[in-house]
Amino acid sequence: MNKIIFFGGKGGVGKTTCSASYAVYEAGNGLKTLIVSTDPAHSTSDIFEKKINDEITNIMPNLDALEISGEKESKAYMDSVRLNLKRVVSPVIVKEINKQIDAASISPGTEEAALFDKMIEIITEKAEEYDRIIFDTAPTGHTLRLLSLPELLGSWIDSLIAKRSKSVNLMSMALKGRKASEKDLEDDDVIKVLKKRYDKISKAKKIMVDNKMLTFIFVINAEKLPIDETEKAVRILEKYNIPVGGIIVNKILPDDMTDEFWKNKKEQEKKYLDIIEETFKDKSILKLPLQQEDIKSDNIKIIADRFAKCNI
Ligand SMILES: Nc1ncnc2c1ncn2[C@@H]1O[C@H](COP(=O)(O)OP(=O)(O)O)[C@@H](O)[C@H]1O
Ligand SMILES: [Mg+2]
Repeated sequence: MNKIIFFGGKGGVGKTTCSASYAVYEAGNGLKTLIVSTDPAHSTSDIFEKKINDEITNIMPNLDALEISGEKESKAYMDSVRLNLKRVVSPVIVKEINKQIDAASISPGTEEAALFDKMIEIITEKAEEYDRIIFDTAPTGHTLRLLSLPELLGSWIDSLIAKRSKSVNLMSMALKGRKASEKDLEDDDVIKVLKKRYDKISKAKKIMVDNKMLTFIFVINAEKLPIDETEKAVRILEKYNIPVGGIIVNKILPDDMTDEFWKNKKEQEKKYLDIIEETFKDKSILKLPLQQEDIKSDNIKIIADRFAKCNI
């Protein structure tokens, strides 16, 4: 059974609702569950009507929650870099470097990398403690870029290690008249940090492509755009060998529509459901009904119980 479950999909389809309901369902089964929201537009706290931040907060028996943000994580990371620099370089250089750090920390790539780092940290550090770790992710494009990061970062760090080894060698030649030994390279602080990061990313990559550990669930509505977008996203994830376990079709209209407008709407929905069945025929599909009211902690059980009937 999968331990790490990502919920993805277009904005507004019901990712937060479905991931929170699923978390309540698994916690109800007695499984120790952690739900992590990574969407900058957070709403896990809205659903549970509880303030959730980057400290683990208990929601109910067996269910803890976290909300993490790329912006906050990248700021924290850059602050730690600044602090380390202060100790080793002169104030004039610190000022110049700070300018560069400021420029780097507002670039979107930095926030994504910082968010990714935090997600890896949670996966690797909390996997022992929890039976389920559920990620409520940001809309599709954002998440896909995030998941392709290990490939990019892995080779980038590899090249940084090679560059640093070269300069350690040069320094050793100048100071000791010989090339750096294996041990010299291992003891180098910069290489140590880079290696640690490389190991972390390799570990994440392994988890991401191991379909016994991780699965991706897409939430869609029976409408054209979410179906098209998700079909593309599934293909991309499978290209990266990231397993897609299931599709949730959320907000299904009731059967007993009498009004002409809604009867037509229901007809249209049927047409899209056929397309969904055909497009995702090799995936488990779970249909969730549209509720009269928004889903909150008092009615979440209605949706949570639906997960009992499926093998997502
Ligand atoms: N099955 C449902 N029945 C009724 N309202 C729903 C259902 N699923 C989601 N909603 C509502 O739709 C809105 C968007 O859902 P949300 O889970 O926040 O989407 P996302 O996280 O994908 O942006 C919210 O107001 C939520 O309460
Ligand atoms: Mg959401």
